Amino acid sequence: MDYIDKYPDELGKFGEFGGMFAPEILMPALNELTEAFNRYIHDENFIEEFERILRFYSGRPTPLYYAERYSDFIGCKVYLKREDLNHGGAHKINNVMGQALLAKKMGKKKLVAETGAGQHGFATAIAGAYFGMPTKVFMGEIDIERQAYNVYRMQILGAEVIPVKSGSRTLKDAVNEGLRFWIANLKEYHYLMGSVVGPHPYPLIVREFQRIIGKEMKVQILELEGKPPDAIIACIGGGSNAIGAFYDFIDNSNVQLIGVEAAGEGRDTNKHSIALGLGRRGVLHGAMQYLLQNEYGNIIETHSISAGLDYPGVGPEHCYLHQLNRLVVGEATDNETLEAFKNLSKLEGIIPALESSHALAYLEKNKDMFKKDDIVIINLSGSGSKDLDIIKKHMEFSIK
Ligand SMILES: Cc1ncc(COP(=O)(O)O)c(C=O)c1O
Repeated sequence: MDYIDKYPDELGKFGEFGGMFAPEILMPALNELTEAFNRYIHDENFIEEFERILRFYSGRPTPLYYAERYSDFIGCKVYLKREDLNHGGAHKINNVMGQALLAKKMGKKKLVAETGAGQHGFATAIAGAYFGMPTKVFMGEIDIERQAYNVYRMQILGAEVIPVKSGSRTLKDAVNEGLRFWIANLKEYHYLMGSVVGPHPYPLIVREFQRIIGKEMKVQILELEGKPPDAIIACIGGGSNAIGAFYDFIDNSNVQLIGVEAAGEGRDTNKHSIALGLGRRGVLHGAMQYLLQNEYGNIIETHSISAGLDYPGVGPEHCYLHQLNRLVVGEATDNETLEAFKNLSKLEGIIPALESSHALAYLEKNKDMFKKDDIVIINLSGSGSKDLDIIKKHMEFSIK
């Protein structure tokens, strides 16, 4: 395949997906951002500063770890890309440090962001503190409740968390409110998008800052195994950890790329977030994508045990890769995810994020797809320490 560096096109599109479906008032800011990004991404000093931050502040490169006991359990060679070991406990830091650095170069003084799991909000609060930029984070009321721990963490770092009471009171509405705030405060603020979603140039910017995951993987697996993996599996919310892991392997068709969506209580219920698998084309948050919507085109409420996957849409590049048959789309239910969460914790001493546990769950239920010597990399996008309150509700613990 000859794909890399061809998309998005000059209109910000990945085939028919993506684009800039934004209010006129936002267009100058998006154009300014596109221009600045295209300049700085080729600027040696910018790249050097970004890489320095990732190395000395975030702790990159993250290890590619051969999970021996888990491999025995699955029946093939399983490696974990340990994004959970980043500063902040997830891959989100790669993107926020890149975008905040870009914002600083553009002369912006403050940051505004949305958050679902709280993980992106927490990462943005870290960037705000690091660069000395006051930070506002919009977060749905329901997510505030289920991710209380991350709310405290953001507040400790000095960010202001603004509860969103509209709509489903989750991530979709937090993005709406955040963008509304940005439109009224364009001069001072940079809107720090948390995933490969939103209008162009965000899907491009976030992908480029997350690409470090796949670039490191490529070198590490060659060192460890002398060849590329047979498959890479990552969970998909908006799709940033997945595209970061996949991108540099897209042109190698021997590497299967598998994105796992949240099937919540099951694909036959209306409580899931299977946008790629079950959505229809539509526009949300400035981009054409597959969306979960009713017959009138209204967005339907989604569900997942993991707040970070609870989103009715999905990044436009994933939609295009799916259409090109380059991306295998899988799913895992809440129950399958909890089972995988427990298995990895007990077999490897690593507590994975519920989001990342979807990728593990897919592998566990499809283990027959792989032979003993096949190499599978799971992108372990984050640590489960943020999820302990939810886990407590679903697992039995006893202190005797
Ligand atoms: C640990 C973790 N993994 C994955 C995701 C999903 O986001 P994305 O699909 O952009 O990687 C989130 C979102 O908050 C997250 O916190």
